[in-house]
Amino acid sequence: MSGPKPFEPGLRRDEPAGPLATDSEPVLIERIRAEIAASGPLTFARFMAIALYDPDHGYYRVAADRPSRSGDFLTAPELHPIFGAVIGRQVDEVWRRLERPDPFVMREYGAGSGTLAAAILDGLRADDSGLGDVLRYEPVEINEVRRTEAVERLGPAARTRRAGGPSRFTGVVLANEFLDALPVHRVEQDGCRLRELFVAWDDAAGRLVEQPGEPSTDALAARLDEDGVTLLDGQVGEVCLEVEPWLAGVAADLEQGLVLVIDYGHQAPALYDPARRGGTLRAYSGQRAHADPFIAVGRQDLTAHVDLTALEAAARTHELTVLGEVSQAELLVGCGLEELVDRVRSNPKTSMEEWLGLRSAIARLLDPAALGGFRAVLLGRGLDPQPPLMGLGRSQPAR
Ligand SMILES: C[S@@+](CC[C@H](N)C(=O)[O-])C[C@H]1O[C@@H](n2cnc3c(N)ncnc32)[C@H](O)[C@@H]1O
Repeated sequence: MSGPKPFEPGLRRDEPAGPLATDSEPVLIERIRAEIAASGPLTFARFMAIALYDPDHGYYRVAADRPSRSGDFLTAPELHPIFGAVIGRQVDEVWRRLERPDPFVMREYGAGSGTLAAAILDGLRADDSGLGDVLRYEPVEINEVRRTEAVERLGPAARTRRAGGPSRFTGVVLANEFLDALPVHRVEQDGCRLRELFVAWDDAAGRLVEQPGEPSTDALAARLDEDGVTLLDGQVGEVCLEVEPWLAGVAADLEQGLVLVIDYGHQAPALYDPARRGGTLRAYSGQRAHADPFIAVGRQDLTAHVDLTALEAAARTHELTVLGEVSQAELLVGCGLEELVDRVRSNPKTSMEEWLGLRSAIARLLDPAALGGFRAVLLGRGLDPQPPLMGLGRSQPAR
């Protein structure tokens, strides 16, 4: 059975907006119960897929605005446009290194309503980069309402790929806080055997509960083996089997350019360190992070830290070069954050309110205990690793 599960606070919260809501979406609970009744306990990945992606009631499918101050959590692009302006400099450097291709595609996974892309474009214009004129933005977003907003917001730069149309491109792939939302399996070490933690319905308690059983697939143990990890007795961990197929699709489309993944994650030895013996699954609701995935089903975000060892192994399998991995703080400083901040400070049109807003956002963006502690992984194709891209210029050994 599970041992004590110490709780790491979430990294992407603003101040809590109110009491924790616990009521689940009733239709989803009925669907989950019916599926359990028909075919037995669900893998956690299947439960997470229903809770987040059910076409009618899944957390990511409904219209509510999630990654904002008024929503459940706050992401770096939503915190302040300086984040996008700085990332734009990395995109611009790749464009110039590849000798200014036209068109140059910026495909963004989990694009939301296009906040990051809009700030990147504004930043490119403020820098007088010619990239703004040839950039073609491709938002990949499961939520139709937000994808439409992204396309409208980006105007002529945005394009929707026609079904069956050519998908290969030269450009940049962005994924900010995307991989952490992909469904994960949960496993637990029980003596010398690995068990999977399934999701069952407890009639007496009238709620969903965790239930250990034989793993649903050998791929879970195989992944931990490939990671070189053995869990301690009683240790719980998450395994995401969807990162590799996602990267395979990206690699198949990317002719030349950069894949920039920014997320909370760790290399496997740290991700599965006994200090995280309860795993890294977190639920986010109303700017609160907690560890109960079985309340507020369909009304709270579910995430787990990304296994960067597995991401980088998948990159090598699909012939992408691992250019480097840095903290978000290092990435932003390397890409010229300080220079952009100086520009705002020395602009006589900057109001005191704008300046203070920027200062407080920067503290969050760089704070290793908040968004600054996210990891940025840079994968390339057709990009010379030397000299390192600007985002990798301030790299320190990962802790
Ligand atoms: C945590 S939010 C991050 C949004 C944005 N990247 C940001 O940083 O503000 C995750 C986004 O990914 C989208 N998403 C989640 N899973 C997806 C999938 N499988 N395909 C496309 N979009 C997805 C969600 O709808 C949501 O907009």
